[in-house]
Amino acid sequence: MSDLNDVKSINSRQIKLLQENGISTAEALAMSPHLIVANIDGLGEKTAKKLIWNARNALGMTEFTSASQISENTELITTGSSELNRILGGGVQTGKLTEVYGPFKSGKTALAHTISVTVQLPESRGGLNGSVAYIDTENTFSKEKIKRIAKRFELNPKEVLSKIYHARIYSSDHQSQMIQKAETICKTRVARLLVIDSLMALLRSEYVGIGKLAPRQAVLNGMIHALSRIAETYNCAVLLTNQVATRMMGMFSGNDAIGGNIVAHGCHFRVMFKTKGFSANNSLKRRAVIVDAPDLPPEECEFYITGVGVSDTDTVDMPQSKGLDFEIESLYEESEPVAENTGRGMDEIPLIKVKGIGKGSMENLHAQGITSINELIEADPDELSSKINGASSKMVNEWQKNAKILLHT
Ligand SMILES: Nc1ncnc2c1ncn2[C@@H]1O[C@H](COP(=O)(O)OP(=O)(O)O)[C@@H](O)[C@H]1O
Ligand SMILES: [Mg+2]
Repeated sequence: MSDLNDVKSINSRQIKLLQENGISTAEALAMSPHLIVANIDGLGEKTAKKLIWNARNALGMTEFTSASQISENTELITTGSSELNRILGGGVQTGKLTEVYGPFKSGKTALAHTISVTVQLPESRGGLNGSVAYIDTENTFSKEKIKRIAKRFELNPKEVLSKIYHARIYSSDHQSQMIQKAETICKTRVARLLVIDSLMALLRSEYVGIGKLAPRQAVLNGMIHALSRIAETYNCAVLLTNQVATRMMGMFSGNDAIGGNIVAHGCHFRVMFKTKGFSANNSLKRRAVIVDAPDLPPEECEFYITGVGVSDTDTVDMPQSKGLDFEIESLYEESEPVAENTGRGMDEIPLIKVKGIGKGSMENLHAQGITSINELIEADPDELSSKINGASSKMVNEWQKNAKILLHT
């Protein structure tokens, strides 16, 4: 990565202006479209052209190279499903834009969450040891989901969360701004994955009607260009999720990704997710289809959405590694003092330590006068379940079983 200072005849004011607009390296400048740089207030067309050319010169981009010298340092991030990896050519690729489109509930956000964790794995396990910039336009990012997925991959949930740099987005110009800003995360925090979930949601609601199509496509074009540049400059994977519009063809209907040709041509890999038939509510089985890819056959596969991310099967065996045997629900209570069950009376173990009991259930139990493990074990399951909304006697039985296990560990 070269510094902007390496660009011939650049001054500090120009460096500052470029940086404020998300262009913070010589590579970024060299790959920026002339119009975008020229539109930066205080630079002007002539300066923009000169600086871009000087940056390209500094990086040897103004000569043709023999194809044998082209570096292809593509790396792959595992999706959590070996089938999905297979049709993608091994996983989500770095340096490229991957678009996943599909209807509501088809698993787009689930994939975004899964690879936000797997990118943090070491290379030997399908990751890149990298962090993540996550642009969330639909407010569907879930810390809890990330923690569960981290646990599946035997990573420390807290550390995993700390390496996901999240931005909640409120408007399309905010989205453009944060896409530019994501470059800083790539540079300073070694982000190897950039997620935009979803690309079009805000644009779709802000630019309504045919008259707004041209300005909408211009904004979109800017975003896609910035993303391609970041992907290439930092050898970073970019995952874009996209909604679909239903297209009628006589008796048949099909789903088209929205955003038109700009998105279609701007993305290297296009994958369609399908909910099978009408089962989106009953089954977590999904289908993925490669719609377009530079060097992949048009394959398809099945995968599942699970509580711990995308997978080949509908249930995932959770690892029981040492140091990771905490309950997800209790992670949420980390601000509360949690007594250790060593050298203390058993009555001091809070009920929340019992597997299956969360904060809400604990409060309900407290309301019934049950505050200790022993009181829980001695309670009558039928009676207790009749007093607590949403707790079946089977559930209470389960709590009691887990409470006993806790006492004996
Ligand atoms: N914890 C979970 N366990 C199993 N399935 C889940 C869980 N959370 C969400 N789902 C399922 O995942 C689907 C939502 O997937 P999502 O990735 O949010 O879709 P999209 O982003 O494509 O709209 C829903 O069908 C939902 O029932
Ligand atoms: Mg979603």
